[in-house]
Amino acid sequence: MSTPIPIHLRRFGFRLDPELERLREQEPMSRLTLPNGYRVWLVTNHRLVREVLANPETFGNNEQGWFDPANEGWAPTPAAGPDREYELHGNITEYNAPEHGRLRKLLAPAFSARRVKELRPLVEGIVDDCLESMISAGSPADLVKHFTLPIPSLTICELLGVPYRDRVEFERRGRDRLDTKLPRAVRLRALHESRQYMVDFIASERAQPGDGFIGRLVQEHGHEIDDHELVGAADILLLGGFETTAHMLALGTLLLLQTPHHWADVRNGENVDEIVEELLRHLSVVQTGMPRVAHRDVEIAGQLVRAGERILCSLPSANHDPEAFAQNADVFQPLRTNKSHLAFGHGIHYCLGASLARLEMRSSYQALARRLPSLRLAESPSSDQYLQSSNVFGLGSLMVEWEPEDRLRAS
Ligand code: HEM
Repeated sequence: MSTPIPIHLRRFGFRLDPELERLREQEPMSRLTLPNGYRVWLVTNHRLVREVLANPETFGNNEQGWFDPANEGWAPTPAAGPDREYELHGNITEYNAPEHGRLRKLLAPAFSARRVKELRPLVEGIVDDCLESMISAGSPADLVKHFTLPIPSLTICELLGVPYRDRVEFERRGRDRLDTKLPRAVRLRALHESRQYMVDFIASERAQPGDGFIGRLVQEHGHEIDDHELVGAADILLLGGFETTAHMLALGTLLLLQTPHHWADVRNGENVDEIVEELLRHLSVVQTGMPRVAHRDVEIAGQLVRAGERILCSLPSANHDPEAFAQNADVFQPLRTNKSHLAFGHGIHYCLGASLARLEMRSSYQALARRLPSLRLAESPSSDQYLQSSNVFGLGSLMVEWEPEDRLRAS
């Protein structure tokens, strides 16, 4: 018998579990037992989620590690061993102050508004190449395989400075380690290969720095960061930027194809930033962010959280909270007035790659809508195509089709 999906990961298409909505209304700070037996607090309303994420001194990140990267994020990570070592070193999401600030300062320049603006032609080139390759594969095609997975993977390769010859395998490993449908042994192997690749890559960048992010980091701050931390940092950029963006691209395209007037807006370049922002809120692909741990006894929403207890913040539930987004919180409405969603988190761990993700989303939707105007769903995704067993909600595949005339227009 398969393990039931815990409430904070369950979705019905784009809809959240009604039980999550009930909790948000009646018990926004509630106890939850995870399938591995861990007891946690689940926070479900917008105000409390913000409060927890904004107070890293009280609700710190978990330096002990917690998620097993090859086991759907439910089981604890091994207490020792090579995985553990890399988990802790350089995984900024598990750092607390002051170490968090030190590492964030080293990584942040690669994601500044100026740097992301410079990346635009590069991202648009990657999007065009992936579109070409999907068109060459012929209609109907799997948008996830040809378009939404390779775009973030290639973007991260460019960012890090991974050589061209390594990119196909880089993408394969990144995909396999996160594919919850693959057996655990296959995922673990991909994880080890991926980490080993990073170890070798960092060693070669130390010896001969390239002009990518890692090469520049080594040249400018090489003495402030050790090799383990560099491996962990490169790895967390892959982990943080790959699956999240890929699923936003796939689910976002699905939603837009189902709402033709918004798709037409994207094609005509109207309200595109608003549409991207509302997709982030409405779809909220990151289900909880990293677990927080109470550093002291603290009362919140009338509940006593004891030092050492773990807390999960439901970002989708917060982002659908009628108290923050009015009664139409469940409706996709790009021109809504309150845009303060938490899809990228909040506070010191706010997503480092937010501007890059927005750029990838804008470029991808616009390229699809403009170059394949007849694009439509070849079939509606069945319930088992939605990925609900990992901390990132997504789509395993999305079959789309288009008219042959589009191919001529696109070439
Ligand atoms: C639409 C796509 C994305 C979404 C929805 C997303 C979401 C998030 C969220 C919710 C957090 C905060 C987690 C927490 O507080 O526990 C986060 C952190 C982070 N994200 Fe993203 N992310 C996306 C894309 C990216 C990209 C493209 C990159 C880089 C290539 C990236 C790198 C990171 C990093 C390094 C952190 C940790 C920051 C820290 O701990 O200080 N993300 N992301």
